[in-house]
Amino acid sequence: MLETTLAQLEASAQERIRASATADELEAARVEALGRKGTLAQLSKDMGKLAPEQRAATGKRLNAVKQALEAALEARQGEFAGQALKARLDAEWIDLTLPAPGPRPASLHPLTEIQSELEDLFISMGFAVLDGPEVETEFNNFDALNMPSDHPARDMQDTFWLTDGHLLRTHTSPVQVRGMRKLGPPLRMIAPGRVFRNEEVDASHEHTFYQLEGMMVDREVSIAHMLYFMKTLLAGIFKRDVTVRLRPGFFPFVEPGFELDIQCLICGGGGCPVCKQGGWVELLPCGLVQPNVLRLSGIDPEEWNGFAFGLGLTRLVMMRYGIGDIRLLLSGDLRFLKQF
Ligand code: DAH
Repeated sequence: MLETTLAQLEASAQERIRASATADELEAARVEALGRKGTLAQLSKDMGKLAPEQRAATGKRLNAVKQALEAALEARQGEFAGQALKARLDAEWIDLTLPAPGPRPASLHPLTEIQSELEDLFISMGFAVLDGPEVETEFNNFDALNMPSDHPARDMQDTFWLTDGHLLRTHTSPVQVRGMRKLGPPLRMIAPGRVFRNEEVDASHEHTFYQLEGMMVDREVSIAHMLYFMKTLLAGIFKRDVTVRLRPGFFPFVEPGFELDIQCLICGGGGCPVCKQGGWVELLPCGLVQPNVLRLSGIDPEEWNGFAFGLGLTRLVMMRYGIGDIRLLLSGDLRFLKQF
């Protein structure tokens, strides 16, 4: 009697295990057959009613059924796990032979770009590229450039003074001094770099900006030489001939000194907001080196002379790319930088 029940129970439990389509259904089948209140547990309680000589045989049979069902459950669980793994592998498949996406192209800051173009240009004309410190001595920044401490021209360059008497250089001109001392005449050098002035910041003024200083010292250097190099420089930058004009300009370290203006490239000289309707843009102060400047750096002005210029790199970048606000250049704003 118990025998028959056991056989039926095994058959129906096996069938449920086989037929279960999900892990949940399988679990339900397990609980029903093998759970603490399941059919097998019920049957083993009934064993108490059997005659002692039947009990051992039935107990064995019961255990065999239990083991068979457990094995079947485990096998079915294994199948489910295998299916789940296969589904996941199919979904997560990656083609490792595909070429990797390339690096995101970067670009140089427009200031860096123009600076290296100018360096290449001047190197090709025999100029050395010199570097000077941003923290300078008062002597190199002013005195050696014919601007002693009582000279009113100092007031034009609002200076960041350091507590130890040094200063943040207000222009790249002190590198002229370093160049003359270090290399001596004949000399051809440029010095690009960062300069600082105590300015109220607005769309056209920054406390930090870039210049490119240039100097040539040789025998019988004339304004014609200077103009040749200035025009070559401008053609190199703007990739076309630019019309220039010279006006007198005052800087204590040159004599005569000039402001070199270029005809506005935006409007061609007719007048526009960039040139403030004037048709000309002030870009390149320059002149023949003042004899005192040579003398102060140990060069005999009876034998040598030269020209010098101080190009506003920041101004030049703004002209070339039509940038209307100087603050963008140091902002680090990627929306701005990605355009270059
Ligand atoms: N250092 C001057 C300034 O920042 C610019 C300058 C003018 C440099 C004339 C020169 C020069 O070399 O000859 O205002």
